[in-house]
Parts: sequence; structure tokens; C-alpha cells
Amino acid sequence: MLLLGIDVGTSSVKVSVVDPVTQTAIVSAQYPEEENPILSPQPGWAEQAPDMWWLEVQQAIRLCNRSGKYNPADISAIGIAYQMHGLVLVNKRQEVLRDSIIWCDSRAVEIGDKAFNAIGEKKCLDNLLNSPGNFTAAKLGWVKENEPEVYEQIDKVMLPGDFISMRLTAEITTSFSALSEGIFFDFSGNRLSDDILNYFGFDRSFFPTIKPVFSNHGELLPEVAQKLGLKAGIPVAYKSGDQPNNALSLNIFDPGEVAATAGTSGVIYGVSDKLAYDPQSRVNTFAHVNYTEEQRRLGVLLCINGVGKLYSWAKTLFSPVSYGEMNDRAAESPIGCYGLRILPFGNGVERMLCNKPVAAHIHNLDFNIHGKDHILRAIHEGIACSFRYGLDIMRENGMNPSVIRAGRANLFLSDLFTEIFVNTTGVPVELYKNDGSVGAALGAGIGAKVFGSPREAFSKMERIKIVEPKGDQYESIYRDWKLLLEKQLGQEVKG
Ligand code: XUL
Repeated sequence: MLLLGIDVGTSSVKVSVVDPVTQTAIVSAQYPEEENPILSPQPGWAEQAPDMWWLEVQQAIRLCNRSGKYNPADISAIGIAYQMHGLVLVNKRQEVLRDSIIWCDSRAVEIGDKAFNAIGEKKCLDNLLNSPGNFTAAKLGWVKENEPEVYEQIDKVMLPGDFISMRLTAEITTSFSALSEGIFFDFSGNRLSDDILNYFGFDRSFFPTIKPVFSNHGELLPEVAQKLGLKAGIPVAYKSGDQPNNALSLNIFDPGEVAATAGTSGVIYGVSDKLAYDPQSRVNTFAHVNYTEEQRRLGVLLCINGVGKLYSWAKTLFSPVSYGEMNDRAAESPIGCYGLRILPFGNGVERMLCNKPVAAHIHNLDFNIHGKDHILRAIHEGIACSFRYGLDIMRENGMNPSVIRAGRANLFLSDLFTEIFVNTTGVPVELYKNDGSVGAALGAGIGAKVFGSPREAFSKMERIKIVEPKGDQYESIYRDWKLLLEKQLGQEVKG
């Protein structure tokens, strides 16, 4: 018996077929090879077509099947991880009504801010643990205000992973965790938020049936099964946002455990048992995959939109070049890059900067000194500084990790980046051989009761190494960087 995991990322879809006995992938495939575009019909907007994700999911499954390393009929459950907060709208025939307004789209900030004031800041923070900010509810509010002809046709509102699950099974479901990432969830009553529904005037029928994250979210349709060579009737047994899923993939379920990723976005995600929030919603609290009414497990999430996105932008600019070559070149530059500093905020408004449109900036560029090597290292350093800035906000709010776990993927593939991250944040990083699609497959194993408990699914997880901080050589770089950021934010610079 095998498990299939799907990770619907912003830049591509990854699928893995996992053996639950070894807890490792028999085969993985990514589609497309080149990174997906983000459509930006207006500055600050970010959209992708849900049916593009669906085509890519099918292609990636076919690529896995073609490896010939397993019998597709042995797959017994499917798990899905997905880019969070994206708004997907369908009509009664399950047809997509408009392109998805994805997580890094900035158009709904004002709408979210207005809702925060109108509902009441205290009420929002106490019950939703966040401002509606720029999340899914505010994005839906934008459609209601600006595209009434689309809004009128809505039958169901969902997140990107729910959409893929719907295409696989024709069922639409949600969970506490999913509702919370959209800011539709009232933590005080563990139900859909009346405050949000009433303020925006959203119809209750827009929201699908609520199910546990680890449960049967629908069964594979015979016609889809036939097209993909899989067995009809196998369940989608797990669905979660990519960040809680990354934490799950690193065996992170309980208070004090902290994960990081540096993919398109950069994230630090720590589990807590407290209904706590940042008063300015610079870091956000959502329900973790194992949140229940009886045992609250919350994910405190710091997101920086412009992390891997900046690195992939630089890759395109310096093309032809591979990420490996870029990492090698960055290592050629000395620490501090002769004063070159980069603010990596060019992928929409940043939550940790109160949703201000800061954009990316290069400071102190000297044509007679700086070349590609310096720019590439300054990107690593600028990203690490932004993680430190966000981590300090988490620390202010009581999340003070003694160690952070990360998968050896994306920017954490670079020893240089890992070392800069560790020394800038002052927190050791444990690197694991992990992958979101493998995590999603193991999540499906938990949902389908192949494993007795979530922890059991990760009992064979392999740590590759631990990187400990050494010295304070990045402290002055961070101070310098922070000063530049504060100037950019137009804030009063504090001592
Ligand atoms: C997390 C977030 C991003 C996306 C990226 O809150 O918005 O990390 O999930 O896919």
C-alpha cells in the first residue's frame, strides 16, 4: 500500500509517492520544470489560474507513474498541501469564476483594515486572533465590491487545495485550520465567524462542510482515476496549507516546536497552545493541523513574501545560471558585501511590515566595487536580516525558539545561506531530509489511519545536521540593514 502527496506551490506542483513503511518517497516529480508565472494585471495584484494547477497536478502524477517504480493501483490515499490564503470561486457546476487571487496579492489591504475597524480591533484579535488584513476574507470582500457579476454566481468559496481536492473527488470540504487561514474562523466558539459573515454580508452557504484536517475529504472519481491510472474510490485523507504542512513534515505538532522554510516566501512557524496574537497582526496565528476543540494547537506564522521570489528574480536576471552556481558565487563575496544591503520586499505588501507597500531596495551600490557575487550574497544577507526582524516580532510575542527545524530545500540547500541565517537570527538550525509533498503523503497516511498517530508517521525522520551560531559578525550588518528599513518605512529610528 502506498500514499500519494501533492504540493501545490506558487512556482510549481510537486507530487511524491511514498511507502508508509520506510516513510520515504519511491518517486517524486515536479511540474512544470520552469517556475510558473504570477499574473499581475495591475501593480500589487497576483493571480494564478486554478485549472492550471489542476493540469499540473495531473502531469506530475503521470510523471511519477511513468517512472515504473510502483504500481499506481497500490496507492490507497491522497494528501494535499497548497499555497495558503488564495481565493478560489466556483459556481454550481464547479466551474472556476475568475483567476485565483493568491496569497501575495495586495489589493485587499484597505478592505481588511476597514473590516478590522468596523468589527472592532479587540473583538477581531480576541476571536479571530488576527486582523482580516489581506487574507482570503478581505479578498472575497474585494470581489463583492468590485466584481458583482462574479460574486452573484458564487456557489462555493475555497482555498487552492480544496479546489484540487474538488477536481479529484467532486466533493468540497474545509477544516478549522483552513477557515482560520482565510480569517473566517472564530476561535472563541470554534465555528465560522458571524462577525466576518455579517460585516461583509457573505452567504453562509458559500462555505463547504467542515471536517477534521485528517479525515475523508472525498473519494477519487472513476473518470479521474481512469485518466490518472489510479484506483477509483481512494480518499483524499488530508488537506493543509503548505506552511502547517511543512511543520507537519518536520514532525512539529506541539508547543515550542518551530519550523522554517525559504521557498517562494520565507516562513518561521511555531506551535503554541495559547490563543495569542500580535496586536499589530505582523505575525499571524492560525489553527495548526492537529487543532481540536479539546486540544488547541496553534501555528504562529511569520511570512516574508519576497524570499525565494527574490532569488528566482535574480536567477532570471543573471541567466543562464543555476541556483547552485548562484550559491557558489555568493560565497565568493566577503561578509557584508562592502556595505551593499538589500531589502527583499518586492512580492506584494509584507504582513510583518503592517502590510505597507515597501518594495525591494538595493542600498549603497557602488559600480566600482560591486559585481554579481556581492549582489548574490547581499540577497542572502538581506533575506536573513528580514527573518531576524520577523523573529524579533515573534520573540516580542513570547515565541522564542531554541532551535528551528528546516528541510534541506530551496535556500536551505545553500550552506552559505544556512550559516548566514543561523548567525543573523542567533538560533541553531536542524536540517532534515523533508519535502512538502512527502509530508502531504504521510498526512494522508494519518488521515487514512495507516499510522496510529501523527508522530508515528515521522518516526523514521532523518536529521542531516545541525548548524550552530558562531560569533556576532552579522550583528552590525543587521543593525545597518534595520536602520535602512526603518528609514524606508518612514519610522522614527529608535536607538
Ligand atoms: C503563508 C503564506 C505563504 C504561502 C506560500 O502564510 O502566505 O507562505 O503559503 O505558498
